[in-house]
Amino acid sequence: MKRPALKVSLSLLLLAGCAPIQTFPRPPLEVAAPAAAAPDAAMERRIAAIVAGMTLEQKVGQMTQPDVRYITPEQVSQYYIGSVLNGGGAWPDMNKRASVADWAALADRFADAALATDLPTPIPLLWGTDAVHGHNNVSGATIFPHNIGLGAANDPALIERIGRATARQVRATGITWAFAPTLAVGDNRRWGRTYESWSSDPALVRRYGEAMVRGLQGDLTGDADVLATAKHYLGDGGTFNGVDQGQARMTREDLLGRHGAGYLGALDAGVQTVMISYSGWYDTAADQDHGKMHGNRDLIAGVLKGELGFDGLVVSDWNGIEQVPGCARDRCSQAVNAGIDMFMVPEDWRAFITNTVEDVRAGRIAESRIDDAVTRILRVKMRSGLFDRPADASVLTGRADGLDARALAREAVRKSVVLLKNDDAVLPLQRGRRVLVVGASADSLSNQTGGWSLTWQGTENVNADFATGQTLLTALREALGADNVVYSADGSGVDVSRFDAVVAVLGETPYAEYNGDVRFPVPVQHSLQHPADLAALRAVSGKGAPVVTVLYSGRPAYANDLINLSDAFVAAFLPGTEGGGLADVLLGGQHDFTGRLSFAWPGSACSTGEDPDDVVQFARGYGLSYARPARLGPLPLPATPATCETIAP
Ligand code: GLC
Repeated sequence: MKRPALKVSLSLLLLAGCAPIQTFPRPPLEVAAPAAAAPDAAMERRIAAIVAGMTLEQKVGQMTQPDVRYITPEQVSQYYIGSVLNGGGAWPDMNKRASVADWAALADRFADAALATDLPTPIPLLWGTDAVHGHNNVSGATIFPHNIGLGAANDPALIERIGRATARQVRATGITWAFAPTLAVGDNRRWGRTYESWSSDPALVRRYGEAMVRGLQGDLTGDADVLATAKHYLGDGGTFNGVDQGQARMTREDLLGRHGAGYLGALDAGVQTVMISYSGWYDTAADQDHGKMHGNRDLIAGVLKGELGFDGLVVSDWNGIEQVPGCARDRCSQAVNAGIDMFMVPEDWRAFITNTVEDVRAGRIAESRIDDAVTRILRVKMRSGLFDRPADASVLTGRADGLDARALAREAVRKSVVLLKNDDAVLPLQRGRRVLVVGASADSLSNQTGGWSLTWQGTENVNADFATGQTLLTALREALGADNVVYSADGSGVDVSRFDAVVAVLGETPYAEYNGDVRFPVPVQHSLQHPADLAALRAVSGKGAPVVTVLYSGRPAYANDLINLSDAFVAAFLPGTEGGGLADVLLGGQHDFTGRLSFAWPGSACSTGEDPDDVVQFARGYGLSYARPARLGPLPLPATPATCETIAP
């Protein structure tokens, strides 16, 4: 649904406390007007009648979202709970390899429990899940490339198709809410969540945000539709030194114009939920610290709900309210008053309900704010059709084939990898030739999929846990003939000259969120963080056969040393379960490289963004292909190991 765009009113600039010396936002993005579709009067009347018949405790229960590990279906009934989630690493019966049927059965139990209350009008439950690159918590689900690779595809239509496929996967498990897309504009490669960002280009993030929301939500009420989540509002990818959950230090105009761009796309597509960021904001123009986003009434109630007209629900992040000064994970009147409607309080949900009721009774929260929050929650539930048709009525419920999207994912892999070097046309690999494969990542679905894969961190997984998918090693054996491929993880003791080519598959080991931060002043250099990869590459480089290096990484990481030891170099980012898509482009034929970097690639270990003093090795938009070859030659290497100079805190 395209909203008529409107220039943002002068009031927003005045709200910014700044004279209207520049148009908001910059670049001059037109801001989506409030929802063009007039509210559904009959629906609003129905909602008002339900809210009027609820007690305060029932209303606050509706605003509470525990994790399924810490609440039973019976307690969902007893406390009138409005939503549950499965955080990373939560599975039915805590069985990582639970089947689709297991997921659907558990979803049914919780859904039935939510309806089994003494409310005059039973209120259906919302179950939220982090389906951020496919339904990644579920064994057997095809897992797509993470966003950083998808950005390199520069293909919004592909993103919409991935959204449709992801929604199908989620509905197969009986779940109706995806905590995606992440709309972060990644500013600093030190950030552990860089891979969850599509690009450092806000215009691409806006186009993709609109496409992904359309893909996930469809028309909201179909059997293969789920609610989408625009996250994390606002400025998660713009924190100082890329510290996860840190402080975005910029003008209001940059915060809204650069980091708000994705939200305009998501709103244009009718996104129904927004998740708040852990990060804070320091306004460098006004020299004012606005604190954590979870307490920012101006940006949540004022801008998102007021100026931009968002009329869906706003959800907090996992215990995010505890970071607001004066708050705890089980109490935060500031966050309620800031405009958050649904509270992700995974464990301490009982105390949260008690404390919030007490805050209302003590006058710290107006009951009208509670009524507004519940009204929004019911509006989203009605718009998604849950009041008229239970989640499990979907024809997809419990269907294992609903998890299969391998062909689409393989296409996405082909489009999301970037050829940085191909001197002397080492690529494409020739069928029938003998190839030596080295590198610990060559046969690791964990390193291939990264964080948010089966587990929260993407760790503690073996290949069999994925139940589907193909490592690059397996794919090369299939494409070249098993007898033509020899694998040695560290490349030691092998006579490289007996082979026609070497494929070195290097990679980060999985991480999520702050665990992926490379904290200043540590240089962001792959061979520093992963010395075994450098050793494996040195074991085969210059030993009588050309070397093709493939790098799995959640960020553009300084790698001139690795690139110089390679004759060809592919930035594969985090491609997901379908390693066959990589083999497709390494062998060429009908598949050429089309990926182009969606972030600049650093030319020094201390350059972590695109500031004027950053050394950029490959600009955003760079990428070679068989059709457009270019010789790279040796890259400059520092005379001494990098030491990142102190930047004023
Ligand atoms: C996490 C993440 C958020 C996710 C939520 C639920 O901390 O910040 O992206 O949706 O918790 O798992």
